[in-house]
Formats: sequence, structure tokens, C-alpha cells
Amino acid sequence: MCGIVGYAGNRNGADIVLAGLRALEYRGYDSAGLVTFTSQKTIEAVKRKGNVDELEKAIKKRKLIGATTLGHTRWATHGEPSETNAHPHTDAAGRVFVVHNGIIENHKELRAYLEARGHVFVSETDTECVAHLIAEFISRGADFESALFSALAKIEGSYAFAIIDRENPDTIYAARLSSPLVIGVGEHENFLASDPSALIESTKRVIYLKDREVATITKSKITTTDLNRRLTPMNIEELEWDLEAAQKGNFPHFMLKEIFEGPEVVRTAMRGRLKKNVLKLGGLDLVRDKLDSMRRLVILACGTSYYAGLVGEYIFEEIAGIPTEVHFASEFRYRNEPFEPGTVALAISQSGETADTLAALKKAKEAKLLTLGLVNVVGSSIARETDAGIYNHAGPEVGVASTKAFLSQLTVLTMMALSLARKKQKINRELMDELQRIPEKIEAVLKQAEAMKRLAAKYSAYENFLFLGRRYNYPVALEGALKLKEISYLHAEGYGAGEMKHGPLAMISPEFPTIAVVPKNSVSEKMYSNIEEIRARKGPVLAIASEGDKKIASIADDVFYIPKTLEPLEPLLAVIPLQLFAYYIGTALGYNVDRPRNLAKSVTVE
Ligand code: G6P
Repeated sequence: MCGIVGYAGNRNGADIVLAGLRALEYRGYDSAGLVTFTSQKTIEAVKRKGNVDELEKAIKKRKLIGATTLGHTRWATHGEPSETNAHPHTDAAGRVFVVHNGIIENHKELRAYLEARGHVFVSETDTECVAHLIAEFISRGADFESALFSALAKIEGSYAFAIIDRENPDTIYAARLSSPLVIGVGEHENFLASDPSALIESTKRVIYLKDREVATITKSKITTTDLNRRLTPMNIEELEWDLEAAQKGNFPHFMLKEIFEGPEVVRTAMRGRLKKNVLKLGGLDLVRDKLDSMRRLVILACGTSYYAGLVGEYIFEEIAGIPTEVHFASEFRYRNEPFEPGTVALAISQSGETADTLAALKKAKEAKLLTLGLVNVVGSSIARETDAGIYNHAGPEVGVASTKAFLSQLTVLTMMALSLARKKQKINRELMDELQRIPEKIEAVLKQAEAMKRLAAKYSAYENFLFLGRRYNYPVALEGALKLKEISYLHAEGYGAGEMKHGPLAMISPEFPTIAVVPKNSVSEKMYSNIEEIRARKGPVLAIASEGDKKIASIADDVFYIPKTLEPLEPLLAVIPLQLFAYYIGTALGYNVDRPRNLAKSVTVE
């Protein structure tokens, strides 16, 4: 999704900003732009539809060298992807240049007001009104800074703005509300970005801008204020991630690298938390009393994190004995449900910046619920908004379609449920032991990647797929279908196998294969019956089944075997072949699996 990078210093800002924009490419975008001061007082903007390479070519052609610079990658929300709609946007006099992430909800009203005052708009974006609005206040006699604060007071919605003013060539202004911005602190130079991964090459010292804060950044000074221009305290933090961790290594794609990081992310999630039969989740200590009296858990998430939450629902209910429900954050935020006392909200998010999850969390806070976070990106908005939580520590996930974060989320959810368990059940002790064996079992699954590649080659000829599972593997089926849709643009539906007879069975034919997630467990007999029903309609079946399952080979066309494990942990093994299946079909079809069309890594709009 949209990305912002800014530089204030003595070096060539265009080079630094382009490198930062490249680091943000994984988020997904459709156009890019940059504005720089070529020498004191001349300011130039370049924008291109397409990728950062196109922008770089245009900049090289123009021989643009400058110091203070802002760059942006845009993921279209208002107006099609085009050079005109790309950021930065400016006013008629070309004085104020704005890049923006988020959505300005009252942009139509602002635009109508500004057009009536003679401002001529060139783009269809919501962002452009900000440049005109600041210019409007300047035209009425305000200095730039006063005009900026007056404009911010009129804007509704969510924003991360980075703005430069032709008359203040050394300064970047930044403001945030519900969309992340982080300042990178350097030596005689400073940086700005919407995501820390754009900064790690330059500095690890960062200041996270808070909601309703405005920053003024020059090469030698950073100040932050509230919207009333009162200074606010700044806290410099160290970034944990290193550059190497964000690079591809020997893998052809980030997605494959990240699938192969599965064993390691599960180990890392347990490190310092679970050893033998001792489980310690320090992140929950502060709120332990409240958790002990929890009556209901409400999980809020989007996309793959939501499916991890669905697995969590089974785990929390069966292992911890806590009534649990999972909501799409985008639905939860608009519901008017009563909350009983003792309800706790848990937000799950890899990026920690998903706009709907953040908004759902804010609603939970307004309802005075205790809020927990299960987040990968340290210091992200969701991590900072929650009362307590646990980090995944899975390292940067670059592939837009989430893979390793899902495994990490399942691991942490299992540990959380074990730590909150009301009854000491035998299964809990067994789960602790088995969870520690999972990384090796994932390694065993990954060793068969070539077998999955062959299966994917065979199945890549189909255009429609049904994914089926039951109980713990029902969310796995949903996630398998989601992965295939995201990566290969093929039609895939995930279903609870019991629901198949209520609709999807009508679609089954020799042209419509089913991927059945059928490890040997409490519901495998039911799954076998569902597979028989599909075979009776001549639907091809690829089964993900347990090693040693003798029956499955006689009823499925193809079988991919995974090691046996305890039922609540099956998703950790069963999802890997489905991730590989999507990856190999996507690459066989020649798609950019790391950056699927129309999708974004960090969805910071609603
Ligand atoms: C986007 C990503 C998905 C991700 C979802 C939720 O749609 O493409 O891979 O699962 O957002 O993101 P989060 O960062 O909140 O887990």
C-alpha cells in the first residue's frame, strides 16, 4: 500500500529516497513520485505510473540532484493509477508539495469549497485538496506553518502526510492520524518513512510519530508538537530488524524464502517463552489478574491473521476453556453488540498497521475492554495501542501474501491458550511437548517441496478449486483458498467440509478439483465421506493427509503426506503444503508471487 520516504541532509536526496521506496515496494503500489530541491529554492517533482524503476529512469534523465526530498509510492484509492494521480500533489503556484497515505473523508466538501475559491484541481485524488488548502490559508496571509496547522484542523479521516514548502527548502513537515510515520535519526541528516523497513539501510534510531502529532524535520533538528503547536516529548528507539533479514538470500522469491523460514519462526516464537514444561509469557504479566477473570475473548483481525484467529477460537475454547469469538475487524467496528464484563479483545496483525484492525481495537478500547495484541512489527500502531501483548518476532515478512506470520501467530496463540488454561488437562502438557517438536516436523514437510511442485504443475491446468477441512483444519482450508487466489488469480473457495452439500457440491465436476485437508484425527472419517461424495461426482481430489493413512490413497487422486501431530497443532503442518501449492501454481503461471496485482502488504486504508 502507499509508502512515504523523506530525506533532509547534505547527500543526494533522490538516491536515498529511491532506495527507501524500493524497500517499500513489497507493500504493493501502482505509481511513484518524488519531489526535491534541485538547488536552494528550485523545486522539481517527477511522477510515473508503474514501478520505481520507471521513476528512477525519469529522474536520471532530468539529472535531478537535490537535498531535501520526499518520495511516495501510491496504491490507488481515489482515482485510477496514473501519472496525474500519483503523489506528490501541489497547489496552483507549485509552492506546497504533499505526499499522503490514508483517506481524507471530507475531501469532497474541501474540494468544493476550494474550487469555489478559485483553486483548480488537476487530479482525482483526495490528497490534492491538502496542497490547495494550505495554499488557501497562505493566500489569506498566514505563514506556512500556521497554514499547515489550520489545514490539519479542517481535515477528517486518516493520514500520514509529508509536506515540503518551496520557501523552506531545508524542512520536511510530517503529520499523522491513524496511518504510521516514523522518523529516522541520523548524523547531520534525518529521515522519514511510513514503514521502518525503508530506514534500516540508513539508521536504526527511530522516533514513532503519534496520532495528532506534527513533526518538523531538518538535517540538524527534529521537533514534534501536538495540533495546538505545543511541543511533545520524543522517544528515540532502536530498530531490531537488520537488512539481511529482509533480503531474499538464495531463494527466487521472498514468498518461498518465508515459507522455508517456517521452522525458525516457530522456534523464535517459543524462544525464552516455552522450554520443556515451563511456559512464561512476560508480555501478559502486567494484566495477568484481569486475564484470570476473563469471561470471553473477542479476536479481531483481517486476512490471514483472521484465519489464524479462527484456529485460535478452537484452541482457546478447547485448551483454555474460554468462550471465544473471532470477527473480521472490518465488520466488528460497525457492530453494536453488548459487551459483558470480563470481555477481552485480542487484535492479531502481522504489520500492526491494518486500518480496520486498528479501528476495531480503538472501538474495543472505547468500550473499556482490556486489549491485547499479537503483532509482528515492533513499535507498530496496534502494538502501541494495546494494553499488553506478545510479539511474533518473526522478522520482516516481505511477500505480500502472508505465510510465515501465520505459523508464528498459531504458535503464539497456542502458547497463550496454554498460559490462560483454566483446567490442568493432560492434553495441555502433551501440547507443550509436541509444540516443541513442530519445527522438525515442518522441516520434514518442507523436504517434500519438490513433490508439491509436481502436484502443482498438474493442478495448474484447472481454473477453479474447492478447499475443504473440518474443525482445526477448516480455517486451514480457508487460508489455502486465500493463498491460491492471492498468488495465482485462480478461483478458489474454502469451505467447512460439512457445508459442502449445502451448495459447493453443485459445482463439482471433472474440471473442478478439491483440495481436502484430511489429517488423521477426530473428524477424518467424516472427511473421507465428503471425499467419497466428491468422487461420486468425478471431481479430482488432492488430499493433505497423515503419514501412515492407508485409506486415503484409495479414495483421493493424489496425496501429500504430513507427519502426525496433535489435532490443535495440525494447522501448523497442514498449511505448509497449501502455501507451497499456491506458490508453485503462481510461479508456473508466470505471476509475480511476491507482489500480486491489486494487493498490498499493509492495508492502511479501510
Ligand atoms: C493484507 C495482506 C495479507 C494480510 C492482511 C492482514 O491483505 O496482503 O497478507 O493477511 O492484510 O494484515 P495484518 O498485517 O493485519 O496481519
